[in-house]
Amino acid sequence: MDISFAVITCSDTRDLTRDEAGAALKRLVLEAGWSVASHVVVKDEQEQIALAIVDACDQVDADIVITCGGTGLSLRDVTPEATRSVCDRDVPGIAEAMRAYSMTKTRRAMLSRAVCMQRGRHLVINFPGSTKAALECWEGISDQLEHACKMTA
Ligand code: MTE
Repeated sequence: MDISFAVITCSDTRDLTRDEAGAALKRLVLEAGWSVASHVVVKDEQEQIALAIVDACDQVDADIVITCGGTGLSLRDVTPEATRSVCDRDVPGIAEAMRAYSMTKTRRAMLSRAVCMQRGRHLVINFPGSTKAALECWEGISDQLEHACKMTA
């Protein structure tokens, strides 16, 4: 089953040419046999992130929208708030699984405020912004993504 992904990196300092974590996530999606329909980088601004999520769901029509970065405790970290503002239903188990798995790697994982939510049938998942953290989170949840998409099809 193909699953199409949109990757939204949320960062004040990166652009598409210097988005190592976003590129690494895209590589993992392709290695799993799925596809990447879009990849953008936006600033750590709630409005910009929210608009990018809406576009990824409603125009790109990605099955899964991955955001990358902006989940920490800095006051510039607003990705979870942006996600909540444009999504309707919580999917707490995926964020819980990411944190639980990540806690076996580093106790700093408790500092991520990442959420996973649905906008209609689309699944939006917040990943942390460092490449290592993003890859670990992917390891923690990727085996359940196909089943998640089948449930919303
Ligand atoms: N999760 C994993 N698996 N590995 C990590 O190294 N780093 C944590 C956490 N989650 C980390 C992790 C740290 S230090 C922070 S501050 C938060 O993710 C938020 O990161 P972000 O602001 O880049 O989204």
